[in-house]
Amino acid sequence: MEIMHVLMTEHRTITRTLGLLERVGLSVLAGDAQAVLDLASLLAFLRDFLEQGHCRREEAALFPLMEQCGMAWGSGPLKVLAAEHATGRRQLLQMQSLLGELDRGEEDARDQIFLEIRSYRDQLMAHMRKEDQVIFPMLQRVLQRVGSVRKVGCKAWVHEPSVPGGLPPARFEILGWLEGRYGG
Ligand SMILES: [Fe+2]
Ligand SMILES: [Fe+2]
Repeated sequence: MEIMHVLMTEHRTITRTLGLLERVGLSVLAGDAQAVLDLASLLAFLRDFLEQGHCRREEAALFPLMEQCGMAWGSGPLKVLAAEHATGRRQLLQMQSLLGELDRGEEDARDQIFLEIRSYRDQLMAHMRKEDQVIFPMLQRVLQRVGSVRKVGCKAWVHEPSVPGGLPPARFEILGWLEGRYGG
């Protein structure tokens, strides 16, 4: 499957997960003990889906492709996208840390987790919009012009098997379970 199509398909899974994250977060805010456990599972899913799959794939394949298309690492779109990935990682760690505080009985963490969820969702949705609406179409135009990724010389994508893959299919079952519980 073509790289931009793979990444856009993954964006739809992330969007679905972010919707769930907010609904689970609302239940955590309302004091639901099961929702705290479900939030921990959802954060673990997001961490693995993004860090073992999507973000690593973009960093291993998309970013070098952008560089091959003339963009510099230290400025412009590449710098912005890389910084947003780092922000997302920090926010995920922060939500997990707040969940630990809540587990230790620190009730203030309940409000903070919800605020962090909203901020994480907004940041990641804006990041994906940028990729979907600006970066991917621009790279697609370049690839159509030169014929293929191979001609652009992007080694990371030419050696596709070395690019980290996604999660095992069984890991996705959690989304269906949680949508059954919190709505989809
Ligand atoms: Fe990204
Ligand atoms: Fe992305």
